[in-house]
This record gives sequence, C-alpha cells and structure tokens, in this order.
Amino acid sequence: MELISLDPTNRGWLNETPTYLPPVGIGEVMRAVGLGRVVASKNLRYPEGQLVSGLLGWQEWAVIDDATMLLPVPDVPGVPLTAHLGALGTTGLTAWVGLTDIGRPQPGETVVVSAAGGAVGSVAGQIAKLRGARVVGIAGGSQKCALLTDQLHFDAAVDHRAADWRHQLEKATPDGIDVDFENVGGEIMDAVFGRLNLRARVVLCGLISAYNDAEWPPGPTNFPALLVQRVHLQGFIVLDHLDRAPAFLAEVAPLVHSAQLQSLETVIDGFEELPTAINMLFDGTNVGKLLVRLAHA
Ligand SMILES: NC(=O)c1ccc[n+]([C@@H]2O[C@H](COP(=O)([O-])OP(=O)(O)OC[C@H]3O[C@@H](n4cnc5c(N)ncnc54)[C@H](OP(=O)(O)O)[C@@H]3O)[C@@H](O)[C@H]2O)c1
Repeated sequence: MELISLDPTNRGWLNETPTYLPPVGIGEVMRAVGLGRVVASKNLRYPEGQLVSGLLGWQEWAVIDDATMLLPVPDVPGVPLTAHLGALGTTGLTAWVGLTDIGRPQPGETVVVSAAGGAVGSVAGQIAKLRGARVVGIAGGSQKCALLTDQLHFDAAVDHRAADWRHQLEKATPDGIDVDFENVGGEIMDAVFGRLNLRARVVLCGLISAYNDAEWPPGPTNFPALLVQRVHLQGFIVLDHLDRAPAFLAEVAPLVHSAQLQSLETVIDGFEELPTAINMLFDGTNVGKLLVRLAHA
C-alpha cells in the first residue's frame, strides 16, 4: 500500500448502526479507500506493477480477490499519486456528481459550499467556479478562508468560527443562494436554508457536524424554507455513481493536468499515525484530502 485515505464516513462505520455499508466489527481490518501497487497477481486485469485504488483498508499489504472493489489507476507523468485519491479519485467524483447531476449550477448563479477547504468541498467549489457560478465557501478559520479566495479563486469565504459568521454569509450572498453543496449540516445548513432562492437545489453530500454526536440532533430548523421555495434536495452516495467515472475523468483530469483545478492534500507520514490523523477531519486541521502515506511509498 502507498496511501490510505481518511474520510469522515470512516467514523460512521465504527458505530453499531449500519450506514450505507455494514459497521466494521471489533477485530476486523478498518475499511478505507487506499492506493497501492500490485506486487504479485494471478489476475490479468491487475498485472504486477499496476497502480490500483479501492477499499483496501488500514493495512500495509492487502490480499484481495475479484470481490474487492478495485480500479486500475493510470500512472500519469507529472500527476502526484496523492491526486488519485484527491481531485482525481472518489473525492473528486463526489464533488463532480453532486454538482453535475444534482446542483446543476448555471452561469451567474450563487453556489455555497460548506467544508469548502476540505477534500470534496475544495473540488466542488472549483468546478462550480469553472462553470461560471458565483462561489461562496464556508470554512473554519481565516487561513482556510484566505486560501479559498486567494488560491482557489472563490468569490467570497465565510469563516464559521468567527462570531459574526451569519452576517458574513448574508453579505457574501446578496442575491440569495441557488445551490447549496451541503457537507456539514447543523446550524450552518439551517442558515443556508434560510437564504435559498426559488427552485434552489440542495446537494446533500454530508452532515459531518453530527458524526461524533452520541444521538442525532433534531432539525433542520429551517425546513419550511424548502417547501416555500420549491427546493429540490437530494442525498447521494458516491458508490452508486462509479459508472460516471469515465465522464468525470474526461472533464476533470485535463483540468488537474493543466493546473486549472488544484488537488489540495494534507499528507501525514506513517501507518501508525492513522488513528490520530483521522481526528483532523473533525477539528478542521486538514486542508483538502487527508491521506496517510506508508513508509515504503
Ligand atoms: N455522499 C458521499 O458519497 C460522500 C463522499 C465523500 C464525502 N462525503 C461527505 O462530504 C463531507 C466532506 O468530506 P471530506 O472527505 O471532503 O472531508 P473534509 O472536508 O476534507 O474534512 C472535513 C472538514 O469538515 C469541517 N468540519 C468538521 N466538523 C465540522 C463542524 N462541526 N462544523 C463545520 N465544519 C466542520 C472541517 O473543516 P473546517 O476547518 O472548515 O471546519 C474539516 O476539515 C463530509 O460530510 C463527508 O461525509 C460524502
């Protein structure tokens, strides 16, 4: 294994209640997406030396069979391996499917992305911007907000850790909100719902603000806005859309190769760091895709 991806959904897999996949039991290998290179193979589809990604788990070596969800990954000169789990991997696919199939932003419309400095959010915001939307990112801290506007060319950023974040959101969305790419939930989602325009679309991608809560909090409190504004809200899980990968790569790979779209990553070295590194997703210390690199990579 070369790289292991840390994802908010890993947290849900540790609970006893099933999510869209069964819980990971005590004593089982922790489920996770990873990137590795085939060292020995009896399968012509995956020859020795082939780079592959899939649900390889928290382990240094993976023994797999045809039942494992595995994709061959092209070695592209100039593209770092990390990007294959970031903007070019399921992270990028999540952002692209959510925007293309559900959000459908039109030029000039206002798109708000929460957890915008993270893996999915940073890609979603950049794609929306490249499609001509006005893009507002919500992120924690002035540094992440500056990164969104200065490096990723978002039109505005809202610091959800600042006392006046609601006022910042109002100021950043003077014409209301046409697309909410929702990664966080809770009071941030409620505030966004309160600013949705007629026939807005909500791309319900994640609700990370409650993943560590012992009980799911009540809400959303601004739910009636969805009725009054005739909003289309759709949840989705990227695993249902793997057939969209060729169309996604046809659009996004050239953008990444030409650096029009940046794949941001936070890479932590060392297999033993996995159990603590995952906390970065919840305290917000990651920027872009959070990955752990294995020593021999
Ligand atoms: N539907 C799907 O198929 C799918 C696939 C992948 C991911 N997701 C979802 O997409 C969301 C983002 O995932 P990701 O992998 O891209 O992770 P990420 O955004 O790279 O990392 C999570 C970020 O969430 C923010 N955050 C954490 N707790 C928060 C809270 N209480 N309030 C506000 N912000 C908080 C933090 O950023 P700040 O510093 O900005 O607070 C943190 O950096 C998650 O909800 C995840 O479950 C869904």
